[in-house]
Amino acid sequence: MSMNSVNSKLVKDAGHIAGEWCQADSGATIAVYNPATGEQLGQVPDMGINETRAAIDAASKALANWSAVAPKERARLLRCWFDLIIEHKEDLARLMTLEQGKPLFETRGEVLYGASYVEWYAEEGKRAYGKVFAAPTADKRALSIQQPIGVVAAITPWNFPNAMITRKVAPALAAGCTVVLKPSEETPFSALALMALAEQAGIPAGVINMITSSQAAAVGKVLTDDSRVRKLSFTGSTRVGKLLYGQSADTVKKLSLELGGNAPFIVFDDADLDAAVAGAVISKFRNAGQTCVCANRILVQDGIHDAFVARFKQAVEQLVVGNGLDDSSTLGPVINQAAIDKIAGMVDKAQSEGASLVTGGQRHPAGELFFAPTILTGVTQQMEIARQEIFGPVAPVIRFKDDAEAIAIANDTPYGLAAYFFTESHSRIWKVAEALEYGMVGINEGILSNEIAPFGGVKESGLGREGSSQGLEDYMETKYLCMGGIR
Ligand code: SIN
Repeated sequence: MSMNSVNSKLVKDAGHIAGEWCQADSGATIAVYNPATGEQLGQVPDMGINETRAAIDAASKALANWSAVAPKERARLLRCWFDLIIEHKEDLARLMTLEQGKPLFETRGEVLYGASYVEWYAEEGKRAYGKVFAAPTADKRALSIQQPIGVVAAITPWNFPNAMITRKVAPALAAGCTVVLKPSEETPFSALALMALAEQAGIPAGVINMITSSQAAAVGKVLTDDSRVRKLSFTGSTRVGKLLYGQSADTVKKLSLELGGNAPFIVFDDADLDAAVAGAVISKFRNAGQTCVCANRILVQDGIHDAFVARFKQAVEQLVVGNGLDDSSTLGPVINQAAIDKIAGMVDKAQSEGASLVTGGQRHPAGELFFAPTILTGVTQQMEIARQEIFGPVAPVIRFKDDAEAIAIANDTPYGLAAYFFTESHSRIWKVAEALEYGMVGINEGILSNEIAPFGGVKESGLGREGSSQGLEDYMETKYLCMGGIR
């Protein structure tokens, strides 16, 4: 099955600047491949510095009009975009499976998840309230208003080709900002399809501009150096996030950074075993382990360790590895050769450091980029596999004795995005939730992402929150108004 199976009005092989679909000035292109088969799906323009500047020009020009549109009208346009996404959900899901690899049940879920941000911010944009303060003297009045921050640059990853775009663009637009977006060059078609639907919804020219490019460093530098860009929102690695953070200092941009994670998934002796196993499978193997919030280390208490590992093995061996377009598949490929080589290397190294293989452990015959779902036991916090983000379908299990040890291991990382734990004790729920140095904690729950939640991390996992009312505030500035001479 190829791109022909997708509604052709959604298949765009051009960037989008100032309301025009356009090619790279140089004519250069980037080939896009299906990770499940290696087949070339198509190509998109390889844009660079000039096109990025043109996109910022367009976003700056569109800003005055867009920010002056009444929030209710912006909400109507976002709602229209939402309705079109829902109307085309099956095509968007197929397109995403083709270029990203995750199974259809997951891409269908992601389209709905992505759309939920558009719906939520269509509603939330109408509630950007200011405040009136009690003034310090009788002749003064003091208040604050919320205003759009300005032109926003958004850089989005390949692991959620739809939802990471809507999670940034929808609040930006609802707030009255305009956007220059660079989607991942691995998954540009999902981004361009969303752009086509935004255009159809009537979102005006220049409000969303899309640059497809393989020149991430050059494009990132133009976006960070330009003082007209007032906010940068990036989802990706901690390494690149730090670079963008540094580059944004000169123009003192506001930043949202959603970076790497090293999520602990803690199973205490008193956990509901079935729930913990189900939570571990979904948290670890969602998107073949390629999410920033995937369980990266599974910490299991002594008393339940062997029973948990036995049940977890049974559940993991039921995963169906295969092309995501096949409705029976539950685990797709990883994104590219570098990813699978890194995963294979980490699994080998963990075994050479003393970990034991319970299941999996090697590449899967379904194709070059498929890795068998893997469980390792006897892992320690000192091993590389417990310190690095795996971003693949590999579950390292670490055994622990008591709460203090679990918390110490869980917090022993520079990352602080998501953590999970399973227990039936309400005292433990509070104590552990408070002790974990993470931005998000799943309690008896393996999936925590949704549009109402303030998604984001602490420590080197990032800055800011996406989703919820906080996600809107992150695209706005507070302006304090002080009125004197009141008689
Ligand atoms: C991510 O991996 O960056 C996002 C995961 C999510 O939204 O659940």
